[in-house]
Amino acid sequence: MPSEPPLILIADPVDATAAQQLTRGNCRVVDASAGGAALEAHLAEAWGLIVRSRTKVTAELLGRAPHLRVIARAGVGVDNIDVPEATRRRIRVVNAPTAATQSVAELTVALMLLLVRGLYGPIHATKSGSWNRSTHGHELAGRTVGFVGYGRIARETRNRLRNFGVTVLAHDPFLPSSPDGTALLSLHELLSRSEIVSIHAALTRENTHLLNADRIGRMPRGSYLINVARGALVDEVALLAALESGHLAGAALDVFEVEPPTRTALLEHPHVLPTPHLGASTVEAQARAGMHVAEELLRALRHEPLEYQVNPEVKE
Ligand code: MLT
Repeated sequence: MPSEPPLILIADPVDATAAQQLTRGNCRVVDASAGGAALEAHLAEAWGLIVRSRTKVTAELLGRAPHLRVIARAGVGVDNIDVPEATRRRIRVVNAPTAATQSVAELTVALMLLLVRGLYGPIHATKSGSWNRSTHGHELAGRTVGFVGYGRIARETRNRLRNFGVTVLAHDPFLPSSPDGTALLSLHELLSRSEIVSIHAALTRENTHLLNADRIGRMPRGSYLINVARGALVDEVALLAALESGHLAGAALDVFEVEPPTRTALLEHPHVLPTPHLGASTVEAQARAGMHVAEELLRALRHEPLEYQVNPEVKE
C-alpha cells in the first residue's frame, strides 16, 4: 500500500457502492462523473481510474495521468480504452465481465419477443387511443436463432430460450468446441440458416462492420437482427437498406455506431425497435459492476492477484 492514500478517480457514473467500498479500503475517491473540470483537475495524481463507456481512455488521456496504475472498466467492453497504450505504459486494465450477464440476456429475450411479435407498434398505438386487434406478428416457437459471438451473455440467453421451442446455432471464432452442445457454424452458414440473428461479440478493429451488406444479404428474407453488443459491429447504412427493401423484417438495437444515435432514418424506421444502450443498466447489474471494480482495485492495492485483468502481460 503506498504511504499516501491512493487516489481513485471515478470518471463515469457508477453505482455508489464502488466509492463506499474504496473509501472503506483507505482510498481517496474523487467522483468526477458529473463531468466538468474535476477529471482534468485530478488526472495527474490518479492511481486508479474507473470508467464505463462514456470516457474515452485514449493515449492522449493516458499521457496526462503519469501515476495511473490501474484502469477499471465497470462493464464488459473495453473498446473505449486504448489497451495497447495502457499496456505500453505498464498500466493494468481490468473489467467486470460477469456483472451484467443476466441483465443483457434478459434484455435480449425481451427484445426478441417484442420484435418477432411486432409489439412495438401496437403498444404505441394503444397508448395513443387506438384499439386495433388485427392479426400480425409471429410466434418465436419453431424459429432458428443464431448467436454471433457465443460467450457468457449469448449462452445465458440460450438458457433462457430453452422453453421457447427454438433451434439455436452459434458462431464464435474463439471457441475451439461447443461448450454446451449448441452447433457451432461458420458465420456464413449461421447467417444463411438463422431467422433471428443476435449479436454478442466484443468490438475489435478487425470485426468492425462484421454485419455488412453482403452478410446481411445472406440472412433469409424476412429475418430479424438484434444487436445488444456494440453498434459498430453492424453497418447501419446496409442495415437500413435491408429494412427498406423488406429483406429484413425488423431490427432491435440497443447499441449504435454513434451514441446517442444520429441516423434518424434508422431510428424512425417502423420496424426498428431502439433502446438507449440499456443492456447493463439494471439496478442489480450496476451494483455488481461497482462492487466488482472496487474489489479489483483493492486487490491491486493489496498486491493480490487480479481476477479480470484484460492485459495480464502487465505485472505489478
Ligand atoms: C458493457 O460493456 O458492459 C456495456 O456496454 C454496458 C455499459 O458499460 O454501459
